[in-house]
Amino acid sequence: MQVMSSLVVLGLCFLFLVVKPDRAYGSSRGSLGRNNGAAAPAVDGICAISVTPYGYKCQEHEVQTDDGYILSMQRIPEGRAGGSMGGQKKQPVLIQHGIFADGFTWLMNSPEQNLPMILADNGFDVWIANTRGTQFSRKHVFLDPARPEYWDWSWDELVTYDLPSVFGFVFNHTGQKIHYIGHSLGTLIGLTSFSEGHQAEQLKSATFLCPIAYVSHLKTKLVRLAAKAFVGDHEPQSTATKNLVHLAQSVRDGVIQKYDYGEEGNRKHYGEAKPPVYNISNIPRDLPIFISHGGLDPLSDVEDVGLLLELLKQHDETKLSVQFLKDYAHLDFIMGVNAKDLVYNQIVQFFSKYQQ
Ligand SMILES: *[C@@H]1O[C@H](CO)[C@@H](O)[C@H](O)[C@H]1NC(C)=O
Ligand SMILES: *[C@@H]1O[C@H](CO)[C@@H](O)[C@H](O)[C@H]1NC(C)=O
Repeated sequence: MQVMSSLVVLGLCFLFLVVKPDRAYGSSRGSLGRNNGAAAPAVDGICAISVTPYGYKCQEHEVQTDDGYILSMQRIPEGRAGGSMGGQKKQPVLIQHGIFADGFTWLMNSPEQNLPMILADNGFDVWIANTRGTQFSRKHVFLDPARPEYWDWSWDELVTYDLPSVFGFVFNHTGQKIHYIGHSLGTLIGLTSFSEGHQAEQLKSATFLCPIAYVSHLKTKLVRLAAKAFVGDHEPQSTATKNLVHLAQSVRDGVIQKYDYGEEGNRKHYGEAKPPVYNISNIPRDLPIFISHGGLDPLSDVEDVGLLLELLKQHDETKLSVQFLKDYAHLDFIMGVNAKDLVYNQIVQFFSKYQQ
């Protein structure tokens, strides 16, 4: 079947790109890509597997989206030392993973090295999101994850449903504006969602690690080839498929727009022949933004990040910081053993500028 083989090729390309085989990771717990297998959901949640054993409090939450998906979230409300910061309320941070990853991925390194625990130890109230379809977010009010209907979504739905739901949930629980941190696809859905104004009242700052908006400069030709072959097929069967098709459309077309159903389908879905475009320049100009990207990251290519920065050129420059790490690759931002020194401490510093 051509659809499937193209999917596999594209999937492998993404995996190959993000998982650099020669990198040393801090731990061998877990593996990427397992989300897309048909494995039965684990009995234990992420808290029990990878947080509480290290002496942190951790709460499991379930969030229902407006289209009926039930997402799991983990909250690490305080650091190992516990206690409040001189009576001050802790600020909530929402951490959003990327493609072929889930909330678990952030926790693969030791407590001294992973982002959620470092943030908790620095006095933040940490919330970890898991998008629909990932291993710990495989429930729906009535759809069965074994059926294709469950998988009929692309990242548009993550923008329209998942992100607003988790934001609303954290906001309702904490009553405070939220610092957002996205990696990879988590940056794309953040950028587009914030540009649509969905979280205007709930967002305090945004950190984008390996930002993906434009992906036209993807270095590996193989990916482009696979993307073309794949998009040609036009018979998306499952959602992982549809989501990858949507990404492949972005690689092919070099624009950030909603899912392209073809002219007839677009008229039905959007009332227009072409999919609506996301206008990243609509992100509020005074939103504090921290961008960090690497020189060895074909998914968040340096030239593509340049295009993104063009879109943000009207942004209040005192509110926009950009960090470039020339030796950093895509996964180093979540699993690099020196990510604490190079990136996470910078995030904590960035947050501290916007405490009030
Ligand atoms: C947050 O609270 C509001 C007001 O009570 C409610 O309408 C909304 O559904 C809640 N959102 C979430 C995601 O829990
Ligand atoms: C995008 O938004 C910016 C800022 O609001 C505006 O100036 C620009 O015209 C918009 N572009 C498009 C294509 O709508």
